[in-house]
Amino acid sequence: MTWPEWVRTTEVEPSLYAADFARLGEQVDVLLGAGCRIFHFDVGDGHFVEPVTIGPVVLESIAPRVHEAGGVLDCHLMVDNPLRHFPQIARAGGDSATFHYEVVDDVPATIAAAREHGLQVGVAFNPESEPEDVATVAGDADLVLCMSIHPGYSGQKFRPDAVDRIRRLRAALPEHIHIQVDGGIDHETIGPAYEAGATLLVAGSAVFGRGDLADAYRGLVRDLE
Ligand code: DX5
Ligand code: ZN
Repeated sequence: MTWPEWVRTTEVEPSLYAADFARLGEQVDVLLGAGCRIFHFDVGDGHFVEPVTIGPVVLESIAPRVHEAGGVLDCHLMVDNPLRHFPQIARAGGDSATFHYEVVDDVPATIAAAREHGLQVGVAFNPESEPEDVATVAGDADLVLCMSIHPGYSGQKFRPDAVDRIRRLRAALPEHIHIQVDGGIDHETIGPAYEAGATLLVAGSAVFGRGDLADAYRGLVRDLE
C-alpha cells in the first residue's frame, strides 16, 4: 500500500501508547468504528527514551483487526538502533516505521533499509534538531515527524516553538512528503499545528484521556474542518 492510499489528506492518529492496555482491542475497535484508519504505535527501548513502551508482541495482537478494517499501523521507533527493529516491526504487522534523525549517521541508507522490509518510512526529529538539517537528508522518506515534546511519555504539554519549526520544515521539504506532529496535540494545539503544515496529527491523551473515545477522536477531526 502506498501513502496516497493510506492518507486521506489529513489524519488524526490516535497514539496507542495512551490506551488502556487491559482493553486495547476493544478501544481499537471503537476507533475503527469512529472512522479512524491510522494508528500511531510508540516503540520505546529504555535507552533512547527512558521507558520501555510497547513492541512487536502487542503490535502482532492488534494488527489483524486493524488491517481487516483497512487501517494501518504507523510505528514510531523511539530507539537507539532502528536497523535492529525494522524486521521485527514488519513481521509483526507494522505498516510504517519512523526512526529518529538523532540516532543514525546515514539517514538515506536507513530509509532504504526500512523499505527493504516493505515499510513506509518516516524520519523523526527532536526539539534540539534543526528542521532544515533534517529536510536535507529526508528527501526519500514518506513523512517527517516534528516532535512537539521530548519523546518518552504521553500527556506532556505541546511546545509552542513547534509551530514555527513545522512551518520551517514545510518550507524546506518537497511537497509530497507528509509532515507529522506528535506531542501535546489537543483542541487548542491541533489547529495551529495544522495551519503550519502538519497533516498527520498524533494524539494520545486527547483521545484516550477522556470518557468517550469515539467522541474525542471525532472532535479532533472536526477541529480540522
Ligand atoms: C511520546 C510519544 C507520543 C505520545 C503522545 O513520546 O511519542 O506519541 O503517545 O501522547 P500525547 O498526545 O498525550 O502527547
Ligand atoms: Zn509517538
